[in-house]
Amino acid sequence: MVLIITPSSSSFRRYVWRGNLRCSVICRKVRLSKSVPVCLLLNISDAISSVWLATLISDLSGPSFTLKRSFTNDSYWRDLLAFTPDFRTLHALPEIQRFFSVPVALARPSRFRLLSGVRHRRIGPTKTFIQGIVQFHTVIAQCTGVFTLTQSEDSSWKAWSFVTMMDQLSGVVDRFSAHTPLCRPAEWQTTMEYTAVVVGAGQCGLSVAARLENLGISTLVLERSSAIGNSWRSRYESLETNTPRAYNHLPFVAFPEGYGKYIPCRDVADYLENYQRTLGLHVLTSACISATSYDVSSSTWTLSISLSGQASITVTARHLIGATGTGTMGGALPFMPSIPEKSSFLGSVIHSSEYKSSSCVGAQKVVVVGAGCSAHDIAQDMANHGSQTVLVQRSPTAVVSRQTIDRLLTGNLSVFPAEISINLTRRICWAGRSCDRDRRPLLCRSSLDNPTKSPVRHHGDTCPHRPVSGFYIDRGCAKLITSGKITVKSGHEISHFSPSGLVFDDGSRVVADLVILATGYSKTTIKQVAESLFGAQVADAVHELGGWDNDNELAGVWRPTGHDGLWFAEGDLFSARFYSQFLALQIMAREMGLLSPDQRSYISC
Ligand SMILES: Cc1cc2nc3c(=O)[nH]c(=O)nc-3n(C[C@H](O)[C@H](O)[C@H](O)COP(=O)(O)OP(=O)(O)OC[C@H]3O[C@@H](n4cnc5c(N)ncnc54)[C@H](O)[C@@H]3O)c2cc1C
Ligand SMILES: NC(=O)c1ccc[n+]([C@@H]2O[C@H](COP(=O)([O-])OP(=O)(O)OC[C@H]3O[C@@H](n4cnc5c(N)ncnc54)[C@H](OP(=O)(O)O)[C@@H]3O)[C@@H](O)[C@H]2O)c1
Repeated sequence: MVLIITPSSSSFRRYVWRGNLRCSVICRKVRLSKSVPVCLLLNISDAISSVWLATLISDLSGPSFTLKRSFTNDSYWRDLLAFTPDFRTLHALPEIQRFFSVPVALARPSRFRLLSGVRHRRIGPTKTFIQGIVQFHTVIAQCTGVFTLTQSEDSSWKAWSFVTMMDQLSGVVDRFSAHTPLCRPAEWQTTMEYTAVVVGAGQCGLSVAARLENLGISTLVLERSSAIGNSWRSRYESLETNTPRAYNHLPFVAFPEGYGKYIPCRDVADYLENYQRTLGLHVLTSACISATSYDVSSSTWTLSISLSGQASITVTARHLIGATGTGTMGGALPFMPSIPEKSSFLGSVIHSSEYKSSSCVGAQKVVVVGAGCSAHDIAQDMANHGSQTVLVQRSPTAVVSRQTIDRLLTGNLSVFPAEISINLTRRICWAGRSCDRDRRPLLCRSSLDNPTKSPVRHHGDTCPHRPVSGFYIDRGCAKLITSGKITVKSGHEISHFSPSGLVFDDGSRVVADLVILATGYSKTTIKQVAESLFGAQVADAVHELGGWDNDNELAGVWRPTGHDGLWFAEGDLFSARFYSQFLALQIMAREMGLLSPDQRSYISC
């Protein structure tokens, strides 16, 4: 039972009475009893959410596990460690009920609390939802649930999506938030013992290290480069983040306000360096792993590390995390298409990863191959520099404004189950079409009239989910194209090089003295990464290949890999912040002995 206090009983009747709760009395004056949860309702969305929450609590604790009253038939429940020690997304009521009945019984969720800030919102052109956050506890952790309610046919409000996440394990203190000293000072020795070693001090490696130290897990980061941030420092000078600053912070240390809304890549590099200093993370630069072994009986890794190619040290740890820009989503290795007769070309050919700035290039006739973000940024640089610039577009490109991206991000889409997030992305890009009208000429050969056939393409055949190419977030290149300063050559494959430029499969030619291949980056599997970093024996035990699993969750990254004590981290700045928390909690849960022997469930305490 929940006692609801509303400013208006008529609105309560109108909106809630038809809902899920049996409600016999509406009183003007009540004597409050400690045993009845009280909810002060300021608006109708709060009222509907409270009623839904009361229904959910009753469904979750009922003798037969049925969620019919609280979930729609085609609903999604995504769980990030709250009920099972993995990431799972279940779709459709029967599947959800079948999967969650045992984990919920073991976890015994309780102490549900609706947080303020429930919102009634429109997502996409037609759908309206009520979205809010609940906090609750399980027997081992404090958790959060993000619910999205929709009105069902019988007019009651039910969850269309519910995302549950572990926030913190019970009894564990957030050291950084509690203002305890940050990391203990490093004492560099030739033999050292840590609980975790992270390989790679990019955004993911540093975030994971910070999250682990926050939980009190001693962590060493190994970086092969001579300075933190070099992967951002080496990119082209005009590069800045396409997503706003607020979306990009890493855990515990925000980007300084003075960096502006979109952060130049040199500032991202400096921020990463400062991040390590501020938190006192233990990072060894110019460090390369020369040998790795794993002792199954003691669950311990032993790493031999050479520093600046000279001194050698040995480190032992129970957990090893690869964060080298692993590349399962499109990695650090430039993809260079093999275009026939390249040697006949009298000009130069470079990959976009080698391009630094227009002033370094000095070419007059430039062809940029590709139609992703790099291609557009570089073409814009070159055209502004006064070069004759042609952009070669092979497939349709979704061109969206930064404002449209802002709208997507404020919808917290990344937290949604994958299928929902991608459908909403398509719809919002589609809805953004009218405000992005000046960019429409770029959407050549795309299915403008059908949002379900958006040109935004997705990674992998089996689990189409996240756009990895085929889109451009406009920073000004669209205007240069519509004004004719940049020519777009589209609809034809490149056939071969000629001495003066490129020849296409329809026989047409484009003249160039520089061809920039902005053709993206090669993908690698987790197995390949494991082999190159830690050797074939370790790679053999890795069962994940990366990419998307049957639940549309990223396989083997931020999650178990198939090899005990081996983990991978990878992704953009948002992923680094968001998923590093879950990787640290998975390691902590193992350190606390909270998992069943097969590691598929929590042991109930
Ligand atoms: C042109 C371009 C623009 C981008 N713009 C954005 C953007 O605006 N926003 C965004 O969020 N993402 C952006 N990305 C994507 C983002 O940069 C990558 O997703 C991100 O760098 C991945 O982070 P990471 O920590 O996994 O790897 P990285 O940043 O690649 O860091 C890996 C680290 O590991 C080190 N390392 C590698 N191998 C070893 C080894 N064997 N031993 C020790 N250390 C090793 C590397 O030196 C590096 O420091 C962009 C990517 C490109 C190519
Ligand atoms: N400011 C920013 O935030 C920013 C800037 C740049 C890049 N990035 C990120 O960095 C990552 C890489 O981006 P990217 O633009 O370098 O690569 P990308 O998004 O993978 O785009 C590669 C482009 O090259 C084209 N291509 C590949 N092979 C080709 C061939 N043989 N002939 C013609 N075209 C070919 C692709 O066309 P098809 O579609 O036909 O394959 C695609 O248009 C992305 O995640 C991107 O978001 C971000």
